[in-house]
Amino acid sequence: MARAADDWRALYQGDITDSEFGYISYNETVMEHFMSPRNVGLIEEPDGHAIVGDLNCGDYIEVCIKVEEGRVADFKFLMSGCPAAIATSSIATELAMGKTIREAMALTDNDVILAAGGIPARKAHCSLLAIRGLRQAIQDYFSKSPHNVKGGS
Ligand code: FES
Repeated sequence: MARAADDWRALYQGDITDSEFGYISYNETVMEHFMSPRNVGLIEEPDGHAIVGDLNCGDYIEVCIKVEEGRVADFKFLMSGCPAAIATSSIATELAMGKTIREAMALTDNDVILAAGGIPARKAHCSLLAIRGLRQAIQDYFSKSPHNVKGGS
């Protein structure tokens, strides 16, 4: 959406807040997770694994999870993406860790955006990568063993 010069001036002068403007910049939480992302890496012999996104165009995430007693015991990721994608993926790992499989499956990109304290609207789609990766890793976990009961406890 095009913005009038007066709107930008008001933002830079502090007359309106970033949230009033529509989150055009990254807040402190997002910047902190981008600069120091949590749970980056891979898990040896993961219970669930997924790669989602487009390896050719560059935005993708690789997700590994460990499941213990029906809960997400570990969730690690590697990714190629923008700062919003890296930060929201880091936040998603923190949100999912310790949750039951059912709770983890119910997480949405909106949950991630809320936990991030908001992200620029044009970056909202970036928060989908981690959630899609998590869901596919959980599906992979279910597919590996008939004893993995869907829905968890
Ligand atoms: Fe492509 Fe954020 S991951 S713009």
